[in-house]
Amino acid sequence: MLDELKKIAEEVKAKLGEIKDSQELRDLELKYLGRKGELTNILRGLKDILPEERAKIGALANEIKLDIEASLNERRGAAVSADLPALDLTLPGKKPERGHLHPVSQVQEQLENFFTSLGFIIEDGPELESEYYNFEALNIPADHPARDMQDTFYIEEKQKGDPKNRLLLRTQTSPVQIRAMKKYGAPLRVVVPGRCFRYEATDVRHEHTFFQLEGLMVDKDISVAHLKAVLEAMAQELYGPGTKVRLRPKFYPFVEPGFNGEVSCFMCQGQGCRLCKQSGWLEIFGAGLVHPKVLLAGGIDPAVYSGFAFGFGLDRLVMLKYGIDDIRLLHGGDLRFLEQF
Ligand code: PHE
Repeated sequence: MLDELKKIAEEVKAKLGEIKDSQELRDLELKYLGRKGELTNILRGLKDILPEERAKIGALANEIKLDIEASLNERRGAAVSADLPALDLTLPGKKPERGHLHPVSQVQEQLENFFTSLGFIIEDGPELESEYYNFEALNIPADHPARDMQDTFYIEEKQKGDPKNRLLLRTQTSPVQIRAMKKYGAPLRVVVPGRCFRYEATDVRHEHTFFQLEGLMVDKDISVAHLKAVLEAMAQELYGPGTKVRLRPKFYPFVEPGFNGEVSCFMCQGQGCRLCKQSGWLEIFGAGLVHPKVLLAGGIDPAVYSGFAFGFGLDRLVMLKYGIDDIRLLHGGDLRFLEQF
């Protein structure tokens, strides 16, 4: 038995030298000191030998056991660090991926900052809107051909109620003109950025979902001069000093007079180029003086107050700015496109 003990002591010493990682160390520990380990078996067998020998062998066995435990512990630190991959502090770090704002949100933010600097407030309205706010209150009665200008997604209702309350996806941000007038009264300066929807067959210039920005100012003695000044300041914010605005008559039921607003082309400074189709002007806004019936629908007395309103597509601004020739790219969610902004 003494020989066996000595053999174990030597074996362990030899194997300890060859250990590479903590798994091998654990295996070695189990082989000799585990519940069924070789040394454990010897210690357990002590009770079967003669008492005279038991003391001597027992003492040696214990000594060897303590010895092995000590050397195992000594090796443990080195074995654990061998498990770790080499640590190279000079390697570059892993860069966390960061998102960024969609180009439409970027112009929206730019314009929100601009209009708040002129004292406008920013208002939101529902995308699911009633027929009343989207059309009737804006002086577009049910039988009016102007409804055909805007193809509309109507919501099917199980119970037919008051047709004025039929729901639709708003085709423009203009219904928020009425909501804002009712909520705040006059005088009022408000801009409304938001998502709109039209029942369109999509192509490079048409999308069923797009973004508009609406503006409304109501006060005493508001005239076309105020409208033009504000639009020109906005055009210069977007396209630089020297940008001009031109208003030409256009019919919108909710304004009188109504205009098609154009800005001088930022690509050619009005000289005529491919972007402006040689005209020198880019069509951007719908605008006009708020129709008296619309002021009334908003609870404002047209005998005391007047106002101007304008609206335009944010998507279109982005397309012009970056020379994007297909509107469907903007909301297609393709990261290869979006990551360029
Ligand atoms: N709502 C109109 C459109 O979507 C734009 C507009 C807004 C025109 C305000 C005049 C005044 O085409």
